[in-house]
Amino acid sequence: MCKMEKPNDLIKDYLSLAEQVAREAGDYAHRARLSDLQIKTKTNEMDIVTQIDSRNEQAIRDAVLAKYPDHVFLGEELGASDTTPPPKEGGGASLAMPGVVNTVRWIIDPIDGTVNFAHGLPIWCVSVGVEVDGVVECGVIYNPNLNEMFSVRRGEGAYLNGTRISVSKQANYKQSLFVTGFPYNVDENPESVIEQFINFLRKGMLIRRLGSAALDLAYVACGRFEAFWEIGLSPWDTSAGQLMVREAGGRVTHYDGTDYNIYKRSIIATNGLHHEMIEGIIKETKE
Ligand code: IPD
Ligand code: CA
Ligand code: CA
Repeated sequence: MCKMEKPNDLIKDYLSLAEQVAREAGDYAHRARLSDLQIKTKTNEMDIVTQIDSRNEQAIRDAVLAKYPDHVFLGEELGASDTTPPPKEGGGASLAMPGVVNTVRWIIDPIDGTVNFAHGLPIWCVSVGVEVDGVVECGVIYNPNLNEMFSVRRGEGAYLNGTRISVSKQANYKQSLFVTGFPYNVDENPESVIEQFINFLRKGMLIRRLGSAALDLAYVACGRFEAFWEIGLSPWDTSAGQLMVREAGGRVTHYDGTDYNIYKRSIIATNGLHHEMIEGIIKETKE
């Protein structure tokens, strides 16, 4: 617990530390994969991890703890560092003392797009979100392959390498580009993911599958894609990116249209102009 006030300056400091640790981790991974890459499987043979993923998460935690010893962590490889469960409903300070910071949680995906990373495909990133008393206040997504640092602060906009970004204004879906992802258990067809994809294709949409949910969100935020949807994601995949899309003027919900919460597993993130169409196709498939 850190009993201190929650001024903007503090969030600014968190954001600059997030940029620093993500850059260090991303640049390290970029170099290290060339000399040593050890691949292991996780939940199934498609779900892999490398020794660089875990090393990166530890390095990020160590760097944050050196400055903020009472902060806590939730990361893909090392799990939760504290016994207090993260706020299940997300959004909204629910903790003890209003106006006082009780819990600062760093939510880390040390490499998002590990399959791409392992195959030498330059579409992966480091994603870090900083949640203060249940609200994601800032975050970064860093792709070292393109030297692109996406950053965001709640209420202050989203940025790419320091330049403010906004979602695309394209309203015609035939002239739009969409992106989705599939969970590692896609072969089990969770939530009819395969039928849904067929229905999107039938609609005549141009769809990509990049393999990094965090970059998918960053790319919606900066207008490269008009929309992204996926089921089965975790808080480390989306904590920074969902805030980027919202701060860039877009809309983020779950598949049923309810407000997005990083602790729940489906996401639709759009420029706001295709949201209902995507929600409709998903709903129609389920019925
Ligand atoms: C994965 C990527 C992928 C998405 C998967 C995620 P990882 O994260 O974001 O695009 O489709 O659902 O688990 O395993 O590379 O960190
Ligand atoms: Ca991930
Ligand atoms: Ca990962």
